[in-house]
Amino acid sequence: MTINKFKGTRMLEVIHSPEDMFKLSRGIRKGGNSIGFVPTMGYLHQGHISLIDRARKENDIVVVSIFVNPLQFGKNEDLDRYPRDFERDYSLCKDAKVDYIFYPSYSDMYPEDFNTYVEVKELSEILCGAFRPGHFRGVTTVVLKLFNIVSPDRAYFGKKDYQQLQIIKRMVKDLNIPVEIVACPTVREPDGLAMSSRNRYLSPEERLSATYISKALFKIKDAFDRGASEVWRLKEVGLDVLNKAPLIGEIQYLEVVHPENLKSREYAQKGDVVAVAVFIGNTRLIDNIEL
Ligand code: PAJ
Repeated sequence: MTINKFKGTRMLEVIHSPEDMFKLSRGIRKGGNSIGFVPTMGYLHQGHISLIDRARKENDIVVVSIFVNPLQFGKNEDLDRYPRDFERDYSLCKDAKVDYIFYPSYSDMYPEDFNTYVEVKELSEILCGAFRPGHFRGVTTVVLKLFNIVSPDRAYFGKKDYQQLQIIKRMVKDLNIPVEIVACPTVREPDGLAMSSRNRYLSPEERLSATYISKALFKIKDAFDRGASEVWRLKEVGLDVLNKAPLIGEIQYLEVVHPENLKSREYAQKGDVVAVAVFIGNTRLIDNIEL
């Protein structure tokens, strides 16, 4: 099957079966068209849309996957209550001129005898990985499956999930996966909160507390720009802000790390990343900023 693209006339199609998606994507590439791929867990927001817009600009065909991947959720995490709204996602994809939504079932992605996992060592064990054992193994396993099914030329990931992005880049490099990984900037609400499907868990009071997370990061960047580089000092600046948030819970980490190996620094350097994970009520939120 060879698919030719007629710009502007294609309808948004939903593909459920991995086999159909596989055949379709091979047909698209055989026809000389490039595929830009945006993997998501749905409940789309402007952060996702920014990835789609970028993919649209750089490719002939855009494929978005929507799959809440059980493999990347821990036992006591929010798999069951993770927000889902396919109708809404469909209409957002339509407006964003997506060509195909790949929307597989759990049993098609993970048949009963499924037993193969992909793990990027070290990078997956620090920061979020230290608090969510197995999480990144679930991410890399599903992303490699999705890459094999969709065979994109380029795949788009947000810097919002900075560690995830670096882990996927490493997987692609280590395993010679023929996909270009494109990193996209974090999209924020007007008050600075990084957009996330999980923001919908927040009560109005918690939502207000959540703004302190980006405030803390901006203040650290400010201190760095004005000459502070000792990490203990930068952390203190950030923690001062975070601890003012009325409903702040556990601060799991606030670290200044090397942008690629994610190792903690003692002295911050330009290009380093400040990464944070905190609980606001029962909701775990992450954010980061590049220095
Ligand atoms: P999900 O949280 O739905 O995010 C899908 C993609 O959107 C990721 O690349 C994420 O970094 C990006 N994204 C989320 N919020 C963003 C924001 N505010 N600005 C810019 N980009 C943003 O990340 C996942 O799903 C899953 O782990 C997945 C990669 C799909 C594997 O299951």
